[in-house]
Order: sequence, then structure tokens, then C-alpha cells
Amino acid sequence: MPDGQTDRALIEGAENETSLSAFERSVRTGLSAQPKTLEPKYFYDDAGSALFEQITDLPEYYLTRAETEILSTRASEMAGIIGPDAELVELGSGASVKTRLLLSALADPGAYIPIDISADHMEAAAKTLRALHPGLAVRPVAADFSLPLALPNPMTSGRRVLFFPGSTIGNLEPDEARIFLERMRHETRSDMLIIGVDLRKERHVLEAAYDDADRVTAAFNLNLLVRINRELGGEFEIDAFKHEARYNDTAGRVEMHLVSLSDQTVAIGSFDADFKAGESIHSENSYKYTLDGFQALAREGGWKSRDVWTDSRQRFSVHLMVPA
Ligand code: TRP
Repeated sequence: MPDGQTDRALIEGAENETSLSAFERSVRTGLSAQPKTLEPKYFYDDAGSALFEQITDLPEYYLTRAETEILSTRASEMAGIIGPDAELVELGSGASVKTRLLLSALADPGAYIPIDISADHMEAAAKTLRALHPGLAVRPVAADFSLPLALPNPMTSGRRVLFFPGSTIGNLEPDEARIFLERMRHETRSDMLIIGVDLRKERHVLEAAYDDADRVTAAFNLNLLVRINRELGGEFEIDAFKHEARYNDTAGRVEMHLVSLSDQTVAIGSFDADFKAGESIHSENSYKYTLDGFQALAREGGWKSRDVWTDSRQRFSVHLMVPA
């Protein structure tokens, strides 16, 4: 704020918008909106990250298994296209099981650059990979890839390949996804993109994947309220809300909601949120694409399809793309 006078003039009593944390401002904005929302990036505190790991092992959550099937059966074919001494750049690297499949198939990979918001997590994974591939330069970059990204200059003579698995692209609005793909092409200067994208399918399969019988996904979604209680002094009664996964087939997305079971008012510090019975907080979307639909979107973001693979049951796709 350049002008101290103006700044002070805005302050009323002990609290003003600028004295609040980003999390608290985000929660107030989302719960004041119509319909109510919460930002999905706040899912991932320690408890949320642990629950997310559990989700990827659930019987209903077919995505991870289908993508792993594609990568393990197609890795050598991908490696042939990529060529030797490549540099692999991974967005949101996490536990890096999928990366290992790709790295072990590549001919003499030169460098691996995992990019993740959590530096600790990455260092542990980097250690494992260095032990498995002694010749590989592993250079983690701790960054939030929703913000502009600066990568080290290429370290190898081979191709730079951007790896973005997990259908994370589906958690963006299609317009945002197109802009994101375009940004990645400029900011990472990659020669190829390998991206995992979940496919449209029957409603019951999609809704079960996001609402499992053991209620792990429910706990993951409700953890947003637990976190607001802990970090912002919120007074959510967790049992007074229920998790719902709804497939919106017009938009082609699974929506995650937290639905109020009664008329209620919830205090979060000095802020009150009023809920009607049945009113929901929309917390995340997971867009599902057709093969053609995703290719058309990526084309608008500057990438054209070179190859695409699906699993044996056509549930999930992995696209290999090159700059258009
Ligand atoms: N991108 C994956 C998906 O949409 C993983 C994911 C992100 C997820 N947020 C989630 C899975 C919330 C379950 C619930 O499926």
C-alpha cells in the first residue's frame, strides 16, 4: 500500500481485510458467495495429504490404477519416441511412483526436475531416485505451479519432456486448463508433454470414485471444515454437513459438495456464515474429457497430439503431445 494515510483511514476497529490471512480471506469470500465455495488448494494440510494418498488406493478410485496400467505397458514405446539423454520435468510430483515407470524405461535419462509445492516431500523422493539412477541429475524445484514458473536451463542434449499425470488438469476449468497448457509451453520450453486425462463414463462409476464406501473421500472433503475450525477458530459441527459427489453430465464434471443438513449459522472468528438446510459448499470439480475433446482443448493451448493411449477398459487416457 503506497499511501499510509489511506491505509490507516481504511482501518475500522481491530480488524480489516489486510490483517487477515490469505486462508481466512479466501474462506470469507467463498462463504459469502452465492452459491458458496471453498478453494480446493486448502485440502492439502498434513491430514488432507495423507487422506489423498489413501484415495489413490481405494477400490472405487480407478484413476491411479488405470493410469499406472497405461504407463507400465507403454513406457518403452514412450521412451522410443522421447529418445536418449532426456530431461523429465514433472508437475506436482508427490510420491513419484508413476515417474519411476517412465524413468526406468528411458534410455539413459539425463535429468529429472520434480516441481511441487511441498519441498520436504520432494527431497525424500529425490533421494530414492538418485539411488535408483546414479547417473541422473535430480534437481527439485519447490514452486506453486499456478504461479509463473522459472526453470533451470536445459542440462542435457536430449529432449525436455513435461510430465503431468493424475488428471490434475481436470481440476481446472476448461478455460483455465487451456491457458495453463499454453503457459507451460512458454515457461518450461518443453519439447513434449505427457499428460494423464480421465475420460467420460457412466455416472455410477464416476460418482463412486469420488464417494467411496469407506468414506475416505468424504473425510478428505470434510477436512476443509476441520481445518477451518483448527486454523481460523471456526465452529463447524462436522456432523452437520455431508459430503456429496455429483456428476454434472452437461458440464462433464464430477462436483464435490459439502451439504448443510439443517438451517444453521456457523461462526468463524468474527464472521458468520448462514446455511439453509440442503444448501451446499461447492469445493472442487474434476472434469472428464473425451479423447477428441481434450485434444481440441490442448490444440487451443498450443499442443498437438502425437500419440494417445488408454487402459484396457478405456477409462483413462495418457496423451503424448508436441508444440503445435
Ligand atoms: N486430479 C484427481 C481427480 O480429479 C485427484 C483429485 C484432486 C481428487 N482432488 C480430488 C480426488 C478430490 C478425489 C477428491 O480425480
